[in-house]
Amino acid sequence: PAGPAARGPLAGRRVVVTAGGTREPLDPVRYLGNRSSGKQGYAVAAVAAARGAEVVLVTTSGLPVPAGVRAVPVETALEMAAAVHAAGAEADVVVMAAAVADFRPAEVAAHKIKKTHAAAPGGTPDESAPVVALVRNPDILAGLVAARGASSSPLVVGFAAETGDEDGTVLEHGRAKLERKGCDVLVVNEVGPGKAFGTDVNTVHVLRRGSDGVLDVGPASKDAVAGAVWDVVGDLL
Ligand code: CTP
Ligand code: CA
Repeated sequence: PAGPAARGPLAGRRVVVTAGGTREPLDPVRYLGNRSSGKQGYAVAAVAAARGAEVVLVTTSGLPVPAGVRAVPVETALEMAAAVHAAGAEADVVVMAAAVADFRPAEVAAHKIKKTHAAAPGGTPDESAPVVALVRNPDILAGLVAARGASSSPLVVGFAAETGDEDGTVLEHGRAKLERKGCDVLVVNEVGPGKAFGTDVNTVHVLRRGSDGVLDVGPASKDAVAGAVWDVVGDLL
C-alpha cells in the first residue's frame, strides 16, 4: 500500500501484542482474575497495524479486533505463554501489555466446588472455608528475554502498573523493574483510584534500557499512548 504506513519503521514488521488479564481457573465456573480491560493492548495493536506492521494479538479480552490484526484468543497465563512463544519466535517486536497473573491455583477442581461437604454417616457436614493453594506462573516476558540470548531480536516491551509506596516512587519502581526484567522498553503505568483500569485515558512514563531519560505521556488517550510507545520502539528497530 502507498502512504506513510508503507514506509515507516513498522512497515512489514512482525509484531506480537498481548492484551487483557489472564483468568486462572479454580473449577469449571470460577477463576482468579484482575481488572485489566485490555484496552491499552488493543490500542497498541491497532496503531501497529495502522503503521503497516503484521500484528498478532494474543488476548483474553472480548473487545472487537482492530482492523488488520490477527487475534489469538487465550485465557490462562500458560496458554498465553504458549501462544506468545509460538508467534514470538519469528517476531521483530513483542509487546507484553497483558496483565498476566503471577500465580494460579495449584489444582483445578474437576467439579464445581460446593460450600458444604456431606458428612460421613453420623458426622456433621463440613462447612469450613477452603484454602486455595497457588503456584507461580511462568514470567512470559522474562522467558522472551532469556530465549533471545545474545541476539537483540525480538525487541521486548513490557508494561508495568505501579503505585508509589514507602519503598519508592512510581518511577523508581519502574526503573528497578526494567533492570530486573531485562526488556528494552518498559511503559510504566500510574494506577490507583480512577487511573487506568477500564478508562480510555492513561498516564505513562516510557523507560528505555541503557538510557536515563524518560518520556512522560498523558493524561492522554490510550491511542495516543500507543502512538508514543511505537515512536520510541520504531527508533530502536
Ligand atoms: N509479565 C509476564 N509474565 C508474568 C508476569 C508479568 O510476561 N508472569 C509481564 C507483563 O505482561 C508486563 C511485565 O511483565 O509486561 C511487568 O509485569 P508486572 O506484573 O509489573 O511485573 P512482575 O515482574 O510480575 O512484578 P510485580 O511483583 O510488581 O507484579
Ligand atoms: Ca505481576
